[in-house]
Order: sequence, then structure tokens, then C-alpha cells
Amino acid sequence: MTDLHPDIERILIAEDDIQRRVTEMAEEIDHDYKDAGQVVLIGILKGAFIFTADLSRKMKVDHSVDFMAISSYGDQAVSGAVRLILDLRKPIVDRHVIVVEDIVDSGHTMNYLYQTLMGRNPASLKTCSLFMKNRDSLEVPLDYVGFELPDVWVVGYGLDYADTHRTLPYIAELKKEVYS
Ligand code: IMP
Ligand code: MG
Repeated sequence: MTDLHPDIERILIAEDDIQRRVTEMAEEIDHDYKDAGQVVLIGILKGAFIFTADLSRKMKVDHSVDFMAISSYGDQAVSGAVRLILDLRKPIVDRHVIVVEDIVDSGHTMNYLYQTLMGRNPASLKTCSLFMKNRDSLEVPLDYVGFELPDVWVVGYGLDYADTHRTLPYIAELKKEVYS
């Protein structure tokens, strides 16, 4: 066992298990979009940048990748208002869009993204998140989900705490005293 950072309580999902699940999700998307053409993956920065890169490289259907940045939480693990920081390079009108998030917690961010992107008249819009903590407060359909997680703060595989621990290859639970 490698030494864990002192902020980390335990590893929740190993690197291999993440990679296996991302491959399955890519296969599911390939199957659903095999005749679609014009698919656009929209990765949500910063948290979903690693997941978006891996998912995209595992997908076989023809697609392009674009990014949006949203502010969700500040440096504290508390909920804040959702705000658009960086917008798409290209219009999505008449394109088949999949929005790719790292994690759905309260659902505010995904609800906001869904409403915002729907307003731009894509040919279709589906939602994809690698992790989900809480299905109850989500007002929009979640079409592709990797793993359900307990209600703890997790880091790694793109997810951060105050911009730290983002590049860990696994998903780890942060010690409660670090974030509460
Ligand atoms: P929501 O709007 O409450 O669903 O929060 C979603 C956003 O909060 C995600 O895109 C993440 O950026 C962030 N987030 C929520 N939970 C965690 C976590 O456990 N670790 C890291 N980021 C998280
Ligand atoms: Mg995020």
C-alpha cells in the first residue's frame, strides 16, 4: 500500500475500476449514437477535464469536444450560486450534445447546464456524470452515470478540494476535519 496524503481518509474507487467503468460508458454512448453523426461532448471545467479526455478517447463514434466552465463551490465545500465562467467555442444548434460532468451533488449545476444548453436548440441533449451523490434533488434526467457515492467530499481523477488532489489517479475520500 502506498502512503496516502495525510488529508485523505481512504481510497473509494481504484484507478482500474474507474478506467473499466469509463470504457463501459463509452461503449454505451457508442451504441446509442451509432447513427447520430455530429455528436458534441461538452466537458465541464475544471472537474471533468480528465473524465472528458478519457471518455472521448474511448469513444468510437465520430464526435468533437468543447468545454464550458462553471463556478460551483468556492474553496469551501459549501454550495454556492451557479455562474457561467467560460462559454463554448461553437454553436450547438442542431447538434447532438452530451454534457459531461464530474459529479452531481445537489444537482444545481446540472440543472443549470441543462436549461442553458436546451435554450440553444440542440438536436438532442443528454447528460453524463461519472459520479453521483444525490439523485433526489436532480430536476433533469441523468442519462449516463458511472458510480454512486456516499455523501462525503471526494478528490482525484479531476475532482479537487480547493484546487488540490486533482491529479490523483483514484477517487479518495477526504478526511472530514479537512472540509468541515
Ligand atoms: P452540485 O451543483 O451541488 O450538483 O455540485 C456539482 C459540482 O460541485 C461538481 O461539478 C463539482 O465541481 C463540485 N463537487 C460536488 N461534490 C464534490 C466532491 O465531493 N468533490 C469535488 N467536487 C465536488
Ligand atoms: Mg465541477
